[in-house]
Amino acid sequence: MACESRTYEEISDNTPITGIVKYETDIKPIIETNCIGCHSPGGPASAYPLTNYNLVKAEIDNIVDRIQRPVGAVGRMPPGTSLSQSQINFFIKWKADGSIEN
Ligand code: HEC
Repeated sequence: MACESRTYEEISDNTPITGIVKYETDIKPIIETNCIGCHSPGGPASAYPLTNYNLVKAEIDNIVDRIQRPVGAVGRMPPGTSLSQSQINFFIKWKADGSIEN
């Protein structure tokens, strides 16, 4: 193996996701860290709660759209910042894999 200097971000972003992406193990932790503070009762996006499997599954097309908008674009999620490419890839693959729960 070549001794190249690569950052953790580069490695994690380029590594293909192996296996089926699941809500409980893969998607829920990303949402709890990056989205739930706003997308839950009392938050500024309480009209669009992302607090359980059925709600997230119903929004997956909107989510995949919003998280891929350019940073700074209207409606970019999370507002003003970005998930990592690897986190974005998890949402895309979760949709492609059929959005299963666990
Ligand atoms: C700082 C607060 C905040 C965070 C964090 C945040 N959002 Fe949002 N989100 C909003 C607000 C406010 C709206 C409503 C305004 C709009 O549509 O842009 C919204 C709207 C949305 C919508 C559109 C809902 C619909 O049906 O029209 C989606 C999808 C969405 N957010 C997904 C996410 C995801 C996924 C994350 C985490 C990766 C996230 N958001 C993080 C505040 C936030």
